[in-house]
Amino acid sequence: MTATDPKLAQKQAAAKAALSYIEDGMILGVGTGSTVNCLIELLPQVRIKGAVASSQATEDKLKALGIEIYDLNQVGVLDLYIDGADEIDAHGNMIKGGGGALTREKIVAAASKYFICMVDDSKIVDKLGRFPVAIEVLPQARSYVARELVAMGGDPMYREGFVTDYGNVILDTYDLDITDAAKMEAVLNNIVGVVCHGVFSAQSAHLMLKAGDQGVQTVKF
Ligand code: 5RP
Repeated sequence: MTATDPKLAQKQAAAKAALSYIEDGMILGVGTGSTVNCLIELLPQVRIKGAVASSQATEDKLKALGIEIYDLNQVGVLDLYIDGADEIDAHGNMIKGGGGALTREKIVAAASKYFICMVDDSKIVDKLGRFPVAIEVLPQARSYVARELVAMGGDPMYREGFVTDYGNVILDTYDLDITDAAKMEAVLNNIVGVVCHGVFSAQSAHLMLKAGDQGVQTVKF
């Protein structure tokens, strides 16, 4: 997020709307990215017990505000996870992972009862896939996985100089046909060497806060 981010005001509006879903005493699952950063800035306004962070970057920001960080293994099921997305469709399926935090995001989302996705209106799509799918891969499997993706019609790009929080690499993959998000999620899960990827269908959003010129719209899936 920069001062010139043309969507900053919308991201801030979506984040402000998300505050009303946060209950006193909660341990909140917190996503990653510029929209989530807007939410983190507002968290001192609510009285959470603490947070489970979806990335080291988010954890650092939360700690800087004095918010207690919990290990997911200590807390079990979370009531609420709030995150952004790179794309979201009419069913709450998403592409995430532009920031490279997709694996921990998917884990925290899976361990949460309710997923609120905050987006500006540029993220809404009829069909997922214009934004590349970030595929986190064990370093040794990079070439093998890339060949498998090409065989499926994908166009994988190695995210140069980027290492995930888990020490893995990312293949940003264009041109995948995501007509059926659940099916694509399963197919990608089945490639040996893939740790996780940015198609979120099993962990789709329950509610979307969509910010546009006319304000913030709430959409339940
Ligand atoms: C990070 C993510 C983010 O949620 C996604 O990239 C959206 O980020 P932003 O709010 O900066 O547009 O999945 O891994």
